[in-house]
Amino acid sequence: MLKCLALFPLLLFLWALPSPPPQAAPPPATPAAFKVPPEIAQKTNPVKPTPEGLEHARKMYGYDCAMCHGANGDGKGDLAADMKLNLRNYRDPAALKGMTDGELFYIIQKGKDQMPPEGDRAKEEDIWNLVSVIRSFSQQ
Ligand code: HEC
Repeated sequence: MLKCLALFPLLLFLWALPSPPPQAAPPPATPAAFKVPPEIAQKTNPVKPTPEGLEHARKMYGYDCAMCHGANGDGKGDLAADMKLNLRNYRDPAALKGMTDGELFYIIQKGKDQMPPEGDRAKEEDIWNLVSVIRSFSQQ
């Protein structure tokens, strides 16, 4: 019992010790606001869609994109469900209305959030054709 009483001032003393100085804030989990460089954002698709170009880009879409964005562009691919991603439905004409071709190009090339970049895997021409494929989902 006496021991208990002796502990009390000790606890009080520990409690009153100044708290350690705050540590440097850890880097934020998500990078700073995503921004497409204006000179790219203002671009309109320079690549005229040809049947061959679109065919090739549709194949790429099937390999690299459909698992998230859905085979038909509805944003309900299996991987998107597993990762609990909330993706736009490209079948809805309103979904990409506010975005330029250049912005879509940049995101496909560089990636965004949990989307991996195409990077060097795709030629620029292929990426522009992917932009056409993405846009075409709302016209089917
Ligand atoms: C791992 C899942 C995943 C894969 C694979 C993926 N994306 Fe995405 N995509 C995303 C996420 C997440 C975003 C960001 C959505 C947001 O910002 O709201 C995104 C955004 C986009 C955007 C910008 C428009 C929008 O919906 O915000 C385009 C265009 C796009 N993706 C196309 C593609 C193409 C083309 C491929 C294949 C080359 C691809 N994505 C592969 C997850 C994915």
